[in-house]
Amino acid sequence: MSQDASGQISTVMQEERLFPPSTAFAKAAHIGSLEQYETLWKQAAEDSEGFWGKLAEEELHWFKPFTKILDWKAPLAQWFVDGKTNVSYNCLDVHLTSDRRDKTAILWEGEPGDKRSLSYAELHEQVCKFANVLREKGIGPGDVVSIYMPMVPELAIAMLACARVGAVHSVIFGGFSSEAIADRNNDASAKMQITADGGWRRGKELPLKATVDEALKKSPSVETCIVLRRTESAVEMKEGRDFWWDELMDSASTECPAAELDSEHPLFILYTSGSTGKPKGIKHTTAGYNLYTKVTSRWVFDLQEDDIYWCTADCGWITGHSYIVYGPLANGATIVMYEGAPNSPDEGRFWEIVERYGVTIFYTAPTAIRAFIKWGDDFVNRADLSSLRLLGTVGEGINPEAWMWYHRVIGGERCPIVDTWWQTETGGIMMSPLPGAIPTKPGSCTKPLPGISPEIVDEAGEAVEPGQGGWLVITRPWPGMLRGIWGDSKRYEEQYWSSVPGKYLCGDNARCDADGYYWIMGRIDDVLNVSGHRLSTIEIESALVSHPDVAEAAAVGRPDELKGEAIAVFVTLGNAEPDEATRNALKQHVRKEIGALAQPDDIHFTGSLPKTRSGKIMRRLLRDIASGKETVGDTSTLEDYSVLAKLRQDEES
Ligand code: PRX
Repeated sequence: MSQDASGQISTVMQEERLFPPSTAFAKAAHIGSLEQYETLWKQAAEDSEGFWGKLAEEELHWFKPFTKILDWKAPLAQWFVDGKTNVSYNCLDVHLTSDRRDKTAILWEGEPGDKRSLSYAELHEQVCKFANVLREKGIGPGDVVSIYMPMVPELAIAMLACARVGAVHSVIFGGFSSEAIADRNNDASAKMQITADGGWRRGKELPLKATVDEALKKSPSVETCIVLRRTESAVEMKEGRDFWWDELMDSASTECPAAELDSEHPLFILYTSGSTGKPKGIKHTTAGYNLYTKVTSRWVFDLQEDDIYWCTADCGWITGHSYIVYGPLANGATIVMYEGAPNSPDEGRFWEIVERYGVTIFYTAPTAIRAFIKWGDDFVNRADLSSLRLLGTVGEGINPEAWMWYHRVIGGERCPIVDTWWQTETGGIMMSPLPGAIPTKPGSCTKPLPGISPEIVDEAGEAVEPGQGGWLVITRPWPGMLRGIWGDSKRYEEQYWSSVPGKYLCGDNARCDADGYYWIMGRIDDVLNVSGHRLSTIEIESALVSHPDVAEAAAVGRPDELKGEAIAVFVTLGNAEPDEATRNALKQHVRKEIGALAQPDDIHFTGSLPKTRSGKIMRRLLRDIASGKETVGDTSTLEDYSVLAKLRQDEES
């Protein structure tokens, strides 16, 4: 255990396992050796602008070439200055002159089992038609279109149609409330709403249009609402404001030239919750985002022409924007899209889908993986998963034992795992193994992608010693970076660029080991301070999850007179009894795994943990419960309020 210094975090985790890519995988990969990765990374580090400029020329279609690669006046970046391009053109039109024209772009499955597939030519036609619908309804460059839809192909079509005409989309995850929609619509001054009558989730209908009706009562800027028929349930249609998608599409022309847009034209706003305070509208623009998501998709997922790629995220999150829609389609990939829940009709649904479509690349979140483990291997073993060749994770740290399960049970010990670290703000993946080049260590996102320069610093902004934990910052701009917070340039500067002047503060703690591998240690706000040692939430949680009785765990600090903070953990058990014996066994286990300092003081057993709608554990709420405080701050992103009520009840009984 290392001693703490100001701003540094002690590490208690030892992970020695190393998994190099197989020779066969490496041989066929785009980037097939560590040397090749290192050469690329060095090239990009020595001449960052030259590196990105050359890629931009090669990878994107330019209606008008750019005259300058980067204009950087910290914290404002402009990439590919003066150039004109169009993201929808780069995702669709470029494929129409080759065999990809008839290649499947989207393989879609609805929760009730209905299926559709669209070739690139068909997707292009639908996007052109819907882009004409948007234009006809008065939507042009810079207008904000709010999208609240189930995971159906029309969601991707709506996004791409906005990109085609230069409208700025703001996709709102289909689980949000009418209040949340109205807040976001007002913050962005949305002019149009796109929705559906409903969507399917776990056998029930989500009443999307009814929720939108409530939201639009409080969204005065919205003039028009377009409604897709999905569930065919009866909904109210307001005369003059609401229109059916299919009726508008019937008469729309299939000809729609893509707007020639400036490189820095805004592409979308995506709202993300800060740990406290009101959601922030993260702004991404055209060319840099397009390039970054395209090349990172190819590097990290090693996309090959015949891959069947499935990212299980919802398009309401950045993962869906960058790695369902824009990145994969720019590469001409075949993507799988699924509307519903992983446990509908039962817990084997995902694996049936993998078998049915012969999925080769599967990308999901650690929260889902922990649920799969809890549901048991039988659901997995029912299906033939031999088509899989690569697995990925995103959204949270993956505990090493969950990583090992993923590797063994889903990957059949043959698929590399890419643990991808990034954020809504970064636009695309920043650190990840390149699967044919970088040997993996369970729990580490390994190394930065070419063109990305991370650093670990203390609170004074000074680089810490190798192996020490501290703040993770990015020292140079990259094309996929956010261009601001919608309508709040002050918050953008303060939050990301002032703590360490000129460097991007991502808000996570991390450490870099002697081999140059990065380990994310949790959010800065979540760090525990026990007897002067700063401990990482992820490390304590990983120790707990490595115990066979534990399905999921969250560690938080509560005030303690003696130690500064005591460690309280919230644990969801597998089959074990929530009794004193289990409690003691878990304490001993953590003590054995990482030492006496990290031994939990309190262990709370719970049926489930409070999570955001995208599956992240909300430690802030657990901190309040552990210290017996009322919950303050924003809880609108909480997925299930009853979990919180139940936790409080358990504390009182
Ligand atoms: O704390 C990190 C965690 O998720 C945060 C970003 O969340 P969001 O903007 O919702 O984007 C999620 C999808 C990119 C990060 O600051 N996070 C994301 N990926 C990882 C991770 N933590 C550890 N390991 C990861 N691979």
